[in-house]
Amino acid sequence: MSAKRVLSGIQPTSDSFHLGNYLGAVKQWVDLQDGHDAFYCIVDLHALTGEIEPALLRKRTLASAAQLISLGISPEKSTLFVQSQVPQHNQLGWLMECMAGFGEASRMTQFKDKSAKGGSDSARVGLFTYPMLQAADILLYQANLVPVGEDQRQHIELTRDLAGRFNTRFGQTFTIPENFILKTAAKIQDLQDPSAKMSKSSGSAAGVLELMDTPESNAKKIKSAATDAGREVKFDEKEKPGISNLLTIHSALSGKTIPALEAEFDGKGYGDFKGAVAEVVVEYFRPIRAKAIDLLSDEKHLLDILHDGATKARVVASQTLEKAYENLGIVK
Ligand code: TYM
Repeated sequence: MSAKRVLSGIQPTSDSFHLGNYLGAVKQWVDLQDGHDAFYCIVDLHALTGEIEPALLRKRTLASAAQLISLGISPEKSTLFVQSQVPQHNQLGWLMECMAGFGEASRMTQFKDKSAKGGSDSARVGLFTYPMLQAADILLYQANLVPVGEDQRQHIELTRDLAGRFNTRFGQTFTIPENFILKTAAKIQDLQDPSAKMSKSSGSAAGVLELMDTPESNAKKIKSAATDAGREVKFDEKEKPGISNLLTIHSALSGKTIPALEAEFDGKGYGDFKGAVAEVVVEYFRPIRAKAIDLLSDEKHLLDILHDGATKARVVASQTLEKAYENLGIVK
């Protein structure tokens, strides 16, 4: 049996990925590239649904590639590419828009949240059709597994529905993908407001740990993270959301289990524990940040990697698109 296909994507909407992106998604991308046929995509077209700043988009697309490689995505093992360099994404995206109901697209919570924030006049049509482009990203590669954080669950569900509908109506065309969402770390919370997820668009910079930020700044953010009542280091998401979030982060990076961490910090206060979390985070990302900065100094090398990835991706994407067109009766 051939290796299972994996596909996932990340938006180049910030100078740096944050810790939620890494623990919820990219860390799994790295693990899955062994033993799977993995496609990882920097989704620049999706990034156009937010504020567009041309110089920043270019810079952030390259910074995303550099960070993915420094975090462990190997261009030899995985196909790493930029979405816009594979035009089949737009082409299949249109077909998905023609499969999706207006009502089901209107129920997407990310669209509802984002459009509610800015008001319906500032929300663009691209934000509404975003999930159908995402479905195309996944289905083009006949992906079996889609490693993502919890916030993408509904988009993967929609993708499965659209693929199933297409297959039933027009004949077997797409693999129905499954999400790959961790039980822990699928939702890393904001350090200042542990009731909200850590997010690029979050209100407070102090609550978001950026991988490319300086070690000093990240250590400071962790040490001033909001904590909870009491002084015991115990995992209890309801009563102690701040400490539970920090326990999840420590555990995911150090490999120690949460009960082992609770025992280690038994009788010690929040201050000692936060100091330890800061050290784990800073030491984990110190070499990764240095490598990303180094990779960014050779733009041509990064572009070559991405062009090679897109060349490989286009081969698979064009086969799927051709099959979909044929099944729809589109004349060749
Ligand atoms: P994006 O760019 O917002 O985030 C990239 C990945 O990071 C995960 N993530 C988190 N995980 C845990 N805790 C958090 N606080 C946290 N914040 C973000 C996201 O779940 C995601 O896996 N729509 C996607 C991009 C996309 C895509 C795709 C993903 C486009 N096409 C095809 C998979 C397959 C998005 O906005 O991710």
